[in-house]
Amino acid sequence: MTAKNILITGATSGIGHSLFKHYSRKGDNVIACGRNQQKLDEIASQAHLTGQFDMTIPSEIETFSKSVESLDILVLNAGNCRYIDDAKNFDGALFADVIETNLISLGWLLQFFLPKVRKGGQVVFVSSSATLMPFQRSEAYGASKSGIDYLANSLRLDLIKEKIDVTLIHPGFIKTPLTDKNDFPMPFLLTSEQAALNIAKAIDKRKEYAHFPKRLTMLLKFFSIMPNWIWRKMIIKG
Ligand SMILES: NC(=O)c1ccc[n+]([C@@H]2O[C@H](COP(=O)([O-])OP(=O)(O)OC[C@H]3O[C@@H](n4cnc5c(N)ncnc54)[C@H](OP(=O)(O)O)[C@@H]3O)[C@@H](O)[C@H]2O)c1
Repeated sequence: MTAKNILITGATSGIGHSLFKHYSRKGDNVIACGRNQQKLDEIASQAHLTGQFDMTIPSEIETFSKSVESLDILVLNAGNCRYIDDAKNFDGALFADVIETNLISLGWLLQFFLPKVRKGGQVVFVSSSATLMPFQRSEAYGASKSGIDYLANSLRLDLIKEKIDVTLIHPGFIKTPLTDKNDFPMPFLLTSEQAALNIAKAIDKRKEYAHFPKRLTMLLKFFSIMPNWIWRKMIIKG
């Protein structure tokens, strides 16, 4: 099998790093992106290329994009999670930061990298199963990821004529530095290696949509079709 050119954002940590290891072990040409130069230096020998840029700064993405040629797979994985701790005193700056990092940046990444995705290629969006239901304190994170869902599902329609497939991923709880900060129970927690295998399988099968672990996501899908008060009663404390 010929090696594929795969660009992964957020390859310096967590899910993106496990995806990076998966594809570089397979012999693909992986373009590993992130902000942390030290981490990028550590993985550079296994990477085809490393890209150090802040994806909220379009000029940084544009500069790096000039060194990227044709892509088979563009994995838009990088993101952040911050919570709204006091909804009544809503933190607009925090909200803007999360939306900018998780959603607005994707517009810039698509502007500079989508033209490089070849006919027959794929674009992969790592969203979250958080979009299946509303959760407390998740106003910013949930809104950003719901925006990604719409973006991916809409883009899929417009890329049919370009013969580029779009895959939308809804992971449940995955153990990474992002979730290590969480102070609440995370049922059915998976490792980032397990998450990467699930994502790679969905990419291989050119799935439009994948969600895991099913024992969590199916439960959320079930609750999402029940009357709202049932879910509210279960999750609101005090
Ligand atoms: N962990 C979970 O339970 C879970 C569940 C559902 C969805 N997700 C989604 O999965 C994705 C990866 O999450 P993770 O858990 O693997 O998190 P993580 O370990 O914290 O990794 C986040 C990655 O995103 C990069 N990143 C963040 N902000 C960036 C920016 N402004 N510019 C460039 N790169 C940036 C980081 O790069 P540097 O460190 O180099 O700055 C890092 O490589 C996120 O989109 C997250 O929302 C995670």
